[in-house]
Amino acid sequence: MTSLALSAYRAPELRLPRLLAGVSYYHPTGLAEHEELYGPLPLPAVSPRQGRTWRPQPRRLIEVIERSGLTGRGGAGFPTGRKMRSVAARPGRAIVVANGAESEPASCKDRLLLTRAPHLVLDGITLAAYAVGAEEAHLVVHGQETGLIDGLENAVCDREALGVDPVPIEITGIPARYVSSEQSSIVQYLNGGPAKPTFSPPRPHERGVKGRPTLVNNVETLAHLALIARYGDGWFRGVGPPAEPGSALVTVSGAVNRPGVYEIEMGTPIGHVVTLAGGPSERLQAVLVGGYFGAWLPADLAWPVPMTHAGLRAMGGAMGAGMVIALPITSCVLAETARVVSYLAEESAAQCGPCMFGLPALADALIELAYCGGRGGDVKAIATLVPLIESRGACRHPDGATQLVRSALTTFAADARRHDQHGPCHGVSRAPLLPVPADEERAWDWT
Ligand SMILES: Cc1cc2nc3c(=O)[nH]c(=O)nc-3n(C[C@H](O)[C@H](O)[C@H](O)COP(=O)(O)O)c2cc1C
Ligand code: SF4
Repeated sequence: MTSLALSAYRAPELRLPRLLAGVSYYHPTGLAEHEELYGPLPLPAVSPRQGRTWRPQPRRLIEVIERSGLTGRGGAGFPTGRKMRSVAARPGRAIVVANGAESEPASCKDRLLLTRAPHLVLDGITLAAYAVGAEEAHLVVHGQETGLIDGLENAVCDREALGVDPVPIEITGIPARYVSSEQSSIVQYLNGGPAKPTFSPPRPHERGVKGRPTLVNNVETLAHLALIARYGDGWFRGVGPPAEPGSALVTVSGAVNRPGVYEIEMGTPIGHVVTLAGGPSERLQAVLVGGYFGAWLPADLAWPVPMTHAGLRAMGGAMGAGMVIALPITSCVLAETARVVSYLAEESAAQCGPCMFGLPALADALIELAYCGGRGGDVKAIATLVPLIESRGACRHPDGATQLVRSALTTFAADARRHDQHGPCHGVSRAPLLPVPADEERAWDWT
């Protein structure tokens, strides 16, 4: 274990909450309150008011992050320290991009952090910039969210007035589209282009913003980094399983009594996560785990499954950005899936075949099965389309959508057969459960 804790600010004894320890649901934590809670940024002193004694080397900070086992909280779960090391190793001054766009309609953990604990994220950006030797940093959110942008700009101004961040942090609003927050879309947008994914390689860590090595991290990942830099890798590993340690924010919604954002130990069983959210508000048939690139699991099988990348992969699912949506028995899983796939089809950048032709055809076939059916042939049509779409796009968008469809057809094979043979069930007339942004919340262009 390596502790980086400053002597005056000992690692908190409490195990959880960690990221949400200082969060008030009523107002953002200001800079003074933030420093009272966590102590100043553990960096070499940058202004006379910060008489610090500890001087971490950037290399040492990366080693600590590697030892902590922190993985990205934006979806793919890539090891954060390894990503930082590869950016730091590239020639040329690096750039740091914090991804706070949170395009998943069912997730609000990043918004909670950005609105209630902005300085934790801003500390993480500054520490990441220090570790990889960056001289430029961006925090990216959806451009429509003007209130959020104003709040973040105020937080950055407060820090500028006190000289907290050696590297300036610029807030940028990107178009509110599902694929605009994929990392290559953000890089292309910051380079002056449309916010659409680009073919890789080169990946952002090789050639990103301005052609420089670019570290893209989710804002929750950076908030964890801010705590690990203060309290050490051993502290971070104090919760969660050794292979996927630490805590994570999850957004729980659907048929639960207290929907919201919860901080859990990695590895917490899904059933316990639902209990944290007040338990089911109705009898459940399934849970959707991992968001719209995730998978449906039958409620009884899902209950003991640990919330880890490995645990959910073993069930054919995905951790994604940590969403759990509880589906009651009165809903129709096929209608819910059809609506989401229609939304994903509309949200594609329509620049690769599987998105231009495959996703709209898949959405139409699912709508037929869910709302019409009774002709015997829709399930076969869907099963034929799925492999034609997979592994052919420039980004994971089409594969994410097909994973959701595969899980619906496998987990609810009997329901799909019933729709196919006898027509829709009663659930199709129930109000939709899975959130899809309203037209006025969506951007319809890419610039
Ligand atoms: C279609 C698509 C949308 C994405 N949207 C987000 C997002 O809203 N927020 C996010 O942090 N990562 C998103 N990602 C993942 C990012 O591309 C990138 O992997 C992530 O920001 C890296 O941060 P991490 O390593 O800290 O997880 C998305 C990926 C895809 C394929
Ligand atoms: S796969 Fe789809 S979303 Fe991804 S780049 Fe191609 S067209 Fe765009």
